[in-house]
Amino acid sequence: MTSTPHRLSDLSTPCLLVDQAPLLHNLETMSLALPGPRCRPHVKAHKCTALAAKQVAAGHAGLTCATAREALGLAAAGLGTDILLANEVVDADRLRALAGADARITIAVDSDETARRAARAGLKEVVIDVDVGLHRCGCRPSDAGRLAAQATSLGLTVRGVMGYEGHAVGVPDREERERLTRQAMEFLIEAHAAVGGELITAGGTGTYDCNTWANEIQAGSYLLMDTAYGKLNLPFEQALLVLATVTSVSDGWAVADCGLKALGMDHGLPTLLSGTVRGVHDEHILFEADELPSVGDRVYVVPAHVDPTVAYHEAFWVTDGEEVVDRFQVDLRGW
Ligand SMILES: Cc1ncc(COP(=O)(O)O)c(C=O)c1O
Repeated sequence: MTSTPHRLSDLSTPCLLVDQAPLLHNLETMSLALPGPRCRPHVKAHKCTALAAKQVAAGHAGLTCATAREALGLAAAGLGTDILLANEVVDADRLRALAGADARITIAVDSDETARRAARAGLKEVVIDVDVGLHRCGCRPSDAGRLAAQATSLGLTVRGVMGYEGHAVGVPDREERERLTRQAMEFLIEAHAAVGGELITAGGTGTYDCNTWANEIQAGSYLLMDTAYGKLNLPFEQALLVLATVTSVSDGWAVADCGLKALGMDHGLPTLLSGTVRGVHDEHILFEADELPSVGDRVYVVPAHVDPTVAYHEAFWVTDGEEVVDRFQVDLRGW
């Protein structure tokens, strides 16, 4: 491609599209539902400082991230007012880089060792990560107070507790989602009683309106959305698409150039706006349609999981109808 594309038809595929109207709708919907610090957007979903800047402009000054790279990228982009690295980091070089960043960075710790390493690297602020039922990272709720005291004795400031109810956020049945969230937050509130601090940070897109115990919600997917969250009847609209080109048409099916290397597949098959997906190979998506397309036609693929899909790509093309209005680098990729 020699010049900046102005139209969808100019784009090489596969590539990521962000539809401007649903993007703006999602930004506004969240900033009205959880204004300002009630939402701490998780940038892991888009890995893009241009999109993070829009979330900050919508009033959410504090951001959540999952990797040192994301935190350092946000800091370098001037988005470092209050970054929560909601994950354990043990790499000494990365921890030192975080400590040296021109930003306020708070990091999750769930063990004496992660607290020791954060303190040794020169980090100043932590939250105690509590296992609230996801059974991924996090200390036992009953150990949170002891760990907070240990962190304090190492010179760290404990800002509060974090507990991600990842086992609840994607549950399609609303009552069950609420039940699991309530159960999870009982653990977090128990931990907070022992730890103290201003932060009770938890939640995601699927629980943004039913987790009323946390004082900030770490929602990420809401901004771009995917078909897994699309099943939950949330007020957020699908903004992310993958554009693909039909490369082969056979008896009863067609193939486009968007495969496993352009799509996160851990939440299942993607959806096609005009056809039924039959399978996805490394570089190919196979689909059926009432009216099969021709070689060279474009198709729109809706990913089942936004986060890993985005991580495969270098940039988003922002679109308004057929027009390409902007290009945002996926500049927070990597670890
Ligand atoms: C620690 C943490 N917080 C929050 C989220 C919520 O993200 P989402 O809104 O995309 O479900 C995630 C997603 O994996 C996460 O790992």
